[in-house]
Amino acid sequence: MRNEGLDKRKILQILEEKLACDHSYDEGYILGSMCTEVNEFGKEVYLKYISKNLGDPGLFPGTAKLEEEVVAEIGELFNGSNIIGSFMTGGSEANLIAMRIAKKLHEDIKEPEIVVPISAHRSFDKAGDLLNIKIKKARLKNNFELDLEHFNSLISENTCGVVAIAGTTSLGLIDPIEKIGEIIDGRDIFFHVDAAFGGFVLPFLKQLSYDIPPWDFSVKQVDSITADPHKMGMGVIPSGGLFLRNKEIIQKVGFEIPYLAGGNFKHLHLVGTRPGATVIAFWAIMEYLGIKGFTQIVQKCMDNTHYLAEQIKEIKGVALAAEPVMNVIGITTENGESICELDKELRKMHWMLGKFEEFNLIRAVIMPHVTREHLGRFVNDLKIAVKKLKLN
Ligand SMILES: Cc1ncc(COP(=O)(O)O)c(C=O)c1O
Repeated sequence: MRNEGLDKRKILQILEEKLACDHSYDEGYILGSMCTEVNEFGKEVYLKYISKNLGDPGLFPGTAKLEEEVVAEIGELFNGSNIIGSFMTGGSEANLIAMRIAKKLHEDIKEPEIVVPISAHRSFDKAGDLLNIKIKKARLKNNFELDLEHFNSLISENTCGVVAIAGTTSLGLIDPIEKIGEIIDGRDIFFHVDAAFGGFVLPFLKQLSYDIPPWDFSVKQVDSITADPHKMGMGVIPSGGLFLRNKEIIQKVGFEIPYLAGGNFKHLHLVGTRPGATVIAFWAIMEYLGIKGFTQIVQKCMDNTHYLAEQIKEIKGVALAAEPVMNVIGITTENGESICELDKELRKMHWMLGKFEEFNLIRAVIMPHVTREHLGRFVNDLKIAVKKLKLN
């Protein structure tokens, strides 16, 4: 650290230089991120309340109450009533905490196991590692749908929880959540739905009359849902969310924090100190956009998704890995050749998608920052790359 402080203007100039190599969403090349530009009003609100600390809620009872309100409101959006929960650092933390709850509720199981689809996010592997839970992975069918029979066969007397995904990381697909609910019905198994991405897409697709299967608290066996404001919610990073049906869970399995200035309380978090401003900002974004505003944004994303899907179908040599359900598109090769070379070629042309080697696809996420013009440029470059690699 320097001995004497620098002039603010100089510091800002140095920062501009140091950060000039970062990519920005409006350049149009970020096609593989589930994050996007934060809503402008959300940014304003965030800055105003940046010092609020929800790690000590007794000091910020107004912020803590607002968190309860925003959680309950999102819970209603997910067809629940009196839903509790909390904002977290993201989907990974929310999934980890959900897996801890599943384990803690079954302390009689000595070698706890969780059953997940193989398409589940890596955060479940992390959770397995950190919590010492065996993660059993169910196969997918050729069309990338979950092989429900295999999923069922992995459930044993050691199963403390099962996981389904509403918006898979690779393809945005929805697992058969009602059917999984039927499988575990009446059994003492915790059912977690990872809607980190889909949580702020699916309710609005429903508004647009898309045929969306039940995925949320309307499925009576679902105990908890992950949904991230910092993905399609356009919230400030970091904001993930964990939503729980059972009001007793925090009392039952929460960590007691005894030393705080604001007084004793219990929470589920990994972290102690945590931002209040991200929660306040997301409350403001929800108030500002309303269902209508979110629906319009999702509609634009879906229009662009359908546009890109149609364009890909026209390009000989590549194919859609699956028909898109939400604003995620998987591109694979028509002849089964490895997707790696295509990914490399596109990267040379600055395009940044996500590569899923295990499914031989590259993934485009058609976020609010992606425009038709960006997609037009991408399609042109994709055609060039396909030709160069002789995939056609
Ligand atoms: C389905 C799903 N769950 C969880 C996560 C992890 O979220 P985060 O990166 O916010 O920890 C992701 C990230 O892409 C995801 O797609």
